Amino acid sequence: MLAGKRILLIIGGGIAAYKCLELIRRLRDRGVSVTPVMTRAAEEFVTPLSVSALAGEAVHQELFDLTKEAEMGHIQLSRVADLVLVAPATADLMAKMANGLAGDLATTLLMATDTPVMIAPAMNVRMWQHAATQRNLALLQGDGVTVVGPNDGDMACGEFGPGRLSEVPEILTAVERHFGGGPLAGKRVLVTSGPTHEPIDPVRYIANRSSGAQGTAIAEALLRLGAEVIFVTGPADVAPPKGVVLRRVETAREMLAAVEAALPVEAAVFAAAVADWRVRGASDSKIKKQAGQLPSLEFDENPDILATVAQMKAGRPALVVGFAAETDDVIANATSKRQRKGCDWIVANDVRPETGIMGGAENAVTLITEEGAEDWPRMGKRAVAERLAERLAAALT
Ligand code: C5P
Repeated sequence: MLAGKRILLIIGGGIAAYKCLELIRRLRDRGVSVTPVMTRAAEEFVTPLSVSALAGEAVHQELFDLTKEAEMGHIQLSRVADLVLVAPATADLMAKMANGLAGDLATTLLMATDTPVMIAPAMNVRMWQHAATQRNLALLQGDGVTVVGPNDGDMACGEFGPGRLSEVPEILTAVERHFGGGPLAGKRVLVTSGPTHEPIDPVRYIANRSSGAQGTAIAEALLRLGAEVIFVTGPADVAPPKGVVLRRVETAREMLAAVEAALPVEAAVFAAAVADWRVRGASDSKIKKQAGQLPSLEFDENPDILATVAQMKAGRPALVVGFAAETDDVIANATSKRQRKGCDWIVANDVRPETGIMGGAENAVTLITEEGAEDWPRMGKRAVAERLAERLAAALT
């Protein structure tokens, strides 16, 4: 897929620059030629010697380099690649790119290039969140620049939050996607996520607990494998992933309508915590509190979205995956749920409060398929998502 491609890799000056060495190796493993360019600041973090040794090509550093200019002018250099990749893209580089500054070789190449540009930002969390950086990010996206990451996590500076350079496999997947690759390229996958809110009146509602973290991680993992992801989400705590086709809903019935409108899809993953009931005759105006009087609520059953799709006679997705959050007899309950709902797989998890899974960063799941139950070790929700997305890709191809 990537073999024979040429990438102009612009290495910015941040502590994450060391990951570029691994990135270059992995790109070259895939048959990609890497032409490295380093900013002056990048040289403070990695040596041009290491970069050129791994790339197998000389590093370009200076705008006014007479020897290199005679061999290949900087304008020509900006055009030789199939993709210009900036990693790490520092706050400073992003600002210069967004504003069209061209004071050194890297920024001149970025101004002169006619090939697509992808950036992998990396910086301190405050710098990432700063209004100026967010403004520059929006400008760059508006200019058609593809953005990979950044990730959340511990940072070299000791802080925690968004700003970490994406991991090398994530950058590779983004590059593969750029060139139309990935095992799920050309496949449409639907993901439901988050809770649904069922109104009691305009200010009150009933809902299930759900942060949306697992559904979001699954959508991101599917994107990384090249899928087109239709993400139908209720009001979740976590932000929806960038790059999905986003459908925001509130109630179960709205979620069902959005799901039906998204069909046909090759696979559907139902990670939403849909409320089983809605309030009968929800009030259009706020129910007034009156001393000594308690309102009584009656319920109607909500549609089961997973079962509706899994049991479709025509146009059923090839693979339908449900979730089962259980507190007792996890495997037995999930196995019978798979049968009852008619889905292909159930991802079962034990959500007893003492497991800390609900709202936490980790998950311990059992995958129930036609073949039986498969316990996965406890791992981060992102890791669960990666593994599920890979299984899904294997099942579809
Ligand atoms: O029946 P239960 O709610 O435990 O089933 C969980 C699975 O069914 C999840 O995959 C959830 O997204 C899905 N579901 C649904 N519509 C409902 C209830 C659950 O899609 N009304």
